[in-house]
Amino acid sequence: MDLKGKVAVVTGAGSGIGYAIAQRFAAAGAAVAINYFGYENEARALAERMNSQGGRALAVKADVAKAGEVAAMVEQTTRELGGCHVLVNNAGVEKAMPLLDVTEEEWDKEVSINLKGAFLCLQAAGRAMRDSGQGGSIVNISSIHEDFPFPLHGPYCASKGGLRMLMRNAALELAPYQIRVNNVAPGAVATPINTGTLNDPAKMQRLSEIIPVGRMAKPEEVADVALFLASDSASYVTGSTYYVDGGMVRYAEPL
Ligand code: BGC
Repeated sequence: MDLKGKVAVVTGAGSGIGYAIAQRFAAAGAAVAINYFGYENEARALAERMNSQGGRALAVKADVAKAGEVAAMVEQTTRELGGCHVLVNNAGVEKAMPLLDVTEEEWDKEVSINLKGAFLCLQAAGRAMRDSGQGGSIVNISSIHEDFPFPLHGPYCASKGGLRMLMRNAALELAPYQIRVNNVAPGAVATPINTGTLNDPAKMQRLSEIIPVGRMAKPEEVADVALFLASDSASYVTGSTYYVDGGMVRYAEPL
């Protein structure tokens, strides 16, 4: 499994799962555009480290919810790194609140970043992949909540469910251009998005009970599956969701 000769854009790569994916892809031989919005120092330091270790990387600031910034990011990546063969839509946010209290502003924020942002990136990168005539691979980091409810996370679940159907539709529409589209659906992963849970012993205890393998995932365990889907090893895989959840969606309370 490698990405030699490929250029990958990873969104939200300044922290968490995106950061691990950028590292994994670089180790597999890819040139990587590390997109960030809030984690500038981390993204820049990561790019510098990759470049100093013989890799090729670029830290690119862009708000994935803004079409102009996304187009500029893909254009800069293609120009400076020599193409765009892989896109990982990883950028995402969530906030817990009862559905009846969700403000219009909060709804717009989560859906804009998690779903519209993925669409804009898919469209910009997809056009570049089509125009190059070389095809490519698009991997969306969704969540087990692309299919399973998560009370108090209405906008998050709606955006992740949308990501599931965006992926399925895109897989069909882009197949003629040799562009594959798949989702990776993580369960609970030890990243900044879960800081509240990681700092709450009662929640951690409950999680270890309801996750069959008994623990949260490390971001690297999600990155390995994203690498497989991005690489030519997955040349016949499109339109699928791969769960990386330690069996969480199969959990059943014994009677
Ligand atoms: C969410 C986490 C949650 C996990 C499992 C993820 O998509 O980001 O907050 O712990 O799903 O429910």
